[in-house]
Amino acid sequence: MTAPDQTGSSQPRKRLKPEELRSWRWFGRESMRTYNQRSRMAQMGYAYSDYAGKPIIAILNTWSEISTCHTHFKQRAEEIKRGVWQAGGFPVEMPAISLSETLQKPSAMLYRNLLALESEELLRSYPCDGAVLMGGCDKTTPGLIMGATSMGLPMIFMPAGPMLNGSAGGKTLGSGSDMFKGWTELRAGTINQDDWEEILSGIARSPGHCMTMGTASTMTSAAEALGLTLPGAASIPAPDSRHAQMAVRTGQRIVEMVWQDIRPAQILTPEAFDNAVTTVLALGGSTNALVHLIAMARRAGVQLTLDRFDKLATTTPLIANLRPSGKHLMEDFYRAGGLRALLERMRHKLHTNAPTVNGLTLGENIAGAKVFNDDVILPIEQALLSEGSLAVLKGNLCPDGAVIKPAAAEPHLHQHTGRAIVFASYAELSARIDDPDLDVDATSVLILQNAGPLGGPGMPEWGQLPIPKKLLAQGVRDMLRISDCRMSGTSYGACVLHVAPESFIGGPLALVQTGDIIKLDIPARRLDMLVDEAELARRRAAWVQPAPRYQRGYGAIFSQQVTQADQGCDFVMLAGTQSTPEPDIY
Ligand code: FES
Repeated sequence: MTAPDQTGSSQPRKRLKPEELRSWRWFGRESMRTYNQRSRMAQMGYAYSDYAGKPIIAILNTWSEISTCHTHFKQRAEEIKRGVWQAGGFPVEMPAISLSETLQKPSAMLYRNLLALESEELLRSYPCDGAVLMGGCDKTTPGLIMGATSMGLPMIFMPAGPMLNGSAGGKTLGSGSDMFKGWTELRAGTINQDDWEEILSGIARSPGHCMTMGTASTMTSAAEALGLTLPGAASIPAPDSRHAQMAVRTGQRIVEMVWQDIRPAQILTPEAFDNAVTTVLALGGSTNALVHLIAMARRAGVQLTLDRFDKLATTTPLIANLRPSGKHLMEDFYRAGGLRALLERMRHKLHTNAPTVNGLTLGENIAGAKVFNDDVILPIEQALLSEGSLAVLKGNLCPDGAVIKPAAAEPHLHQHTGRAIVFASYAELSARIDDPDLDVDATSVLILQNAGPLGGPGMPEWGQLPIPKKLLAQGVRDMLRISDCRMSGTSYGACVLHVAPESFIGGPLALVQTGDIIKLDIPARRLDMLVDEAELARRRAAWVQPAPRYQRGYGAIFSQQVTQADQGCDFVMLAGTQSTPEPDIY
């Protein structure tokens, strides 16, 4: 479990001089403003020699009292600072907006780009030379990395780490997955209120992000595979003392990265993104990774597409036996060797020459990592799936793509034809789904409209549409569901997600009516509605665009700027690598 050299390569590299530091532009000049800045640093008790000519390290901390997964980040920030001081840098903790997945409405996704924007501008407007990004709860990882990538300073991602395994009633519980299962059983009447309360009290036992292979574990693992963390960082449980040790090492390493001028552009190459996608596929990671990795890649100038995901999916085995696709949880994964061991097992699928933040290659960082439990990290020949843990669909219902996680769906639904039952909004779905008169059976296809990036708004995680109560009573636990929203990475079921273009802007999903026949064929990567073109043209002509969700504020900016799911839902004005001027210093 101990990773190799964590604090720097022995390779000779160029080194900056103190006067080449970005912060020198603030503090190294003779001017009235510089002296004013020095006086204000003295106001905080610092001598000029404490910071001038030293790497100033911004620690972007997404801690807040409402960020449930990051409650340990106050302490971890202190440990990162210790490492920065030890290495001769000057740490500056800066709070960044916390995105708390379970508490923020309508969806933390609405605010991912706001965190990215804030991160970029914090780093640009202050005298920062490098950054440590503290995130983990779902959208914080991509948000921080997107912003820091656009700014382009040396940076390391410090993952929050998964929480400990959940436990209640003698059972091991996984975040999200067992919550959704418990809720289904409560509605079906197979557990009672006391059972349910016990699940609620024991499913989140410690600081840290969700410990299933949900979006948080997926994205922190992707960050490590991209080369943006120290080796081994993503798998360490949040309360483990080795997590604190990793925070110190991260603080030490970022100082050296500044001197060596190692920038994200050197790390975030097309090969690095292939490594991240391959890792997500081998882990059975969250469908949210498609949206986030596409957005992150575009910030780095890499044109990652849905088709690339699908192509890599055809050659990548799913070897992490983790919920929701498999059996175990992240604490078990760490004990089994963690991400380094999984990557070493599939080294032949990776670009091992890809550089990483510690100055070594990905291949060097994973070399010799051992698997300690073959039931958690499966041998390739015993993979849960030999290929296709995610599948990208095309068809007349989703001309720009949609995604499904076949591993989390009942196999008999992988090829399915059924009659649509359409809900025009989540409110309508909630009101009607348990109506005893709803004309639904196990072969029906539940469809939710107006839940995409603009329609949701913010593309909420509503994609695991609930099974109607009367079908639960008959023992039905999965059925085909289709929407333009996302679903939690901890969810499961035959749920087609991210339909693009979304229904709110007139995508074909807007034209589906109850009674239409829908055909899903995962092996053929097709999703179609069997409605003739003349009828679709008639419906298209009659379709009326809904009014925008927002007239003012951040929501209005979001509505004007956000792209569709297949393009990563970034803001048009933030995507790409066009340079933004450095602030003038007077
Ligand atoms: Fe924070 Fe799941 S709620 S990671």
